[in-house]
Amino acid sequence: MSADFDDFKEQVRSSADIVDVISGYVALKKRGHNFWGCCPFHGEKTPSFAVNPEKNMFYCFGCHEGGDVFKFIMKAENCGFLEALKLLANKYNIPIPETHKNAQELAREKQLQEVVATNELAARYFQACLLRTEHGKPALAYLASRGIGQEIIESFSLGFALDSYTALVNNLGRHNCTPAQLVKAGLALTGKNGGIYDKFRRRVMIPIRDIRGRVVGFGGRVLGEGQPKYMNTGETSFFNKRYLLFGLDIARQEVRKTQQVLIVEGYMDAISLHAAGIKNAVASMGTAFAVEQARLLKRMALEVIFCYDSDAAGRRAAVRATTIAREAGLRVRIATVPQGKDPDEYIRQHGREAFLKVIEGAVEGIDFQINETISENNVSNLAGKVETVSNLLPFLLQCKNDIEVVEHIRKLAQRLVIDEGLIMEEYRKAARKRSGQQNMPGLPVPGVRTTTTTVEQQAEELLLAVLLEHPEMAVNCLEIVEKVGFVIQAHQQLFTALVQGNYSEQVNASQLTEHLDDGVASVLAGIMAKQTPAGDAGRMIEDCLRQMQRGFLEKAYEQHCQLAAQYEQAGDARCMSELAESQRIKNEIKKLYSN
Ligand code: CTP
Ligand code: MN
Repeated sequence: MSADFDDFKEQVRSSADIVDVISGYVALKKRGHNFWGCCPFHGEKTPSFAVNPEKNMFYCFGCHEGGDVFKFIMKAENCGFLEALKLLANKYNIPIPETHKNAQELAREKQLQEVVATNELAARYFQACLLRTEHGKPALAYLASRGIGQEIIESFSLGFALDSYTALVNNLGRHNCTPAQLVKAGLALTGKNGGIYDKFRRRVMIPIRDIRGRVVGFGGRVLGEGQPKYMNTGETSFFNKRYLLFGLDIARQEVRKTQQVLIVEGYMDAISLHAAGIKNAVASMGTAFAVEQARLLKRMALEVIFCYDSDAAGRRAAVRATTIAREAGLRVRIATVPQGKDPDEYIRQHGREAFLKVIEGAVEGIDFQINETISENNVSNLAGKVETVSNLLPFLLQCKNDIEVVEHIRKLAQRLVIDEGLIMEEYRKAARKRSGQQNMPGLPVPGVRTTTTTVEQQAEELLLAVLLEHPEMAVNCLEIVEKVGFVIQAHQQLFTALVQGNYSEQVNASQLTEHLDDGVASVLAGIMAKQTPAGDAGRMIEDCLRQMQRGFLEKAYEQHCQLAAQYEQAGDARCMSELAESQRIKNEIKKLYSN
């Protein structure tokens, strides 16, 4: 494959965090070096599926399935390597090299480029209308009345759609945009007579960009009062709000820097916060927070802070959004703006410092969920308490560690005035039930390999484990390995790959995996999942090799003894030479342990 492709593959590999990826399929909990969950590839109730983030491998101690992140996707999605690679590339927003796109992908890409090009022309035209025409004056005044000046207009590329059915259509027509393109981009609508006309009229135009900064749609706000307040680009495969967060292209850098993202509901909230220098704000554009948005954010931040409206609907939305963000592995806090105001109103009235205090006072997501649930139920009677506990279980089950759970249950017991042990019992029941249900239906269940490991097999495994950490020592083993070989074929292949790789430092398991058959890669993952005992590597290697030699020699000894017995019965003279050979082997075994 080309260097270009190798670069691409490496980029995907280094971006795809294996814990993050697998968490999308299996609930994982950290214990020791590994993350653990119930194996998605075979039915099980107790977790024996381990993910090791340092080695970038997964391994199931139950069904012995294992490998790197690509292997996981191939198994989970039942697809080939290239597809798995593309799936991860898309997830992590890594451009796929042209040469590796199929016809369908190329066609889609081309359409998206057209839509983006049309939108970007439109955004420029709208901005010219706002800044350089008489007609733009009322819109400029409106924005100014909301504290939005030149700088923000430029950074968000705000514009104005004239009060006309033809202005945009005609202008973009002159730039060679076809009617079909304008309709596809959602900028024009088709009239009864088959002609097209401008969709957005007399509105402040807010371009919506994807994370790479491409204009994929618009929000258009009426000047002042009027219905509908906003008109947006219609949902298409090119403009899907689940994958978008307004302002993220601008907030991105700050989000990465602070590892924190502030999520508000409205365009105007995000814009206003940026105007006040709060640069990690993005808007969910009034729709429910989606798992796709959560995953997008997980790649660049540790924590999200939802700052939604404090009315009942806003609080319910925050409870749900918290679940989604926690599920994606994000830390979550909820900020409540006082006096029923939205962030834009609040910051303009009380200033930046006051708003930052609101953010500082944000409560933990799960605490918010608990508080909300308690306030929704009548906890003065027993039925209400029972209901509350049962409603809270899903939130508790999301906790990543038991200490946290115990702490929440303790506080909860105090607040509800019920016995801690009873809540704990309910929690345990729910946890058991969940782990029983966790196996994903529809996935292939490979035959569970039952193995009785012999001493030699263990020695082979340990030898490989040590060599993976000290690959430069592999050549020293060649002489003996060539003589006695490995009992397990996969071990032999692994050893060969290690020698051929000529590695000088600890092997990157993922790179090694590429040169291995599927089954061998699983075996490798199995070896890596186990803890290599500490100790002198040279000594361990010697011990293992001796164990392997002994196994080899003992087998040979057995064979010669058997042959000798057969010859003796048949009265064959070769009996003597077989006996002699078996004796020689016996001495060799003794010699193994003499120094
Ligand atoms: N929204 C929408 N269509 C509407 C109303 C709202 O798409 N008819 C979306 C917009 O993304 C909007 C968000 O929901 O930004 C939140 O709505 P709202 O709080 O009403 O809007 P604000 O952004 O606060 O706008 P403004 O301050 O100008 O009222
Ligand atoms: Mn508002």
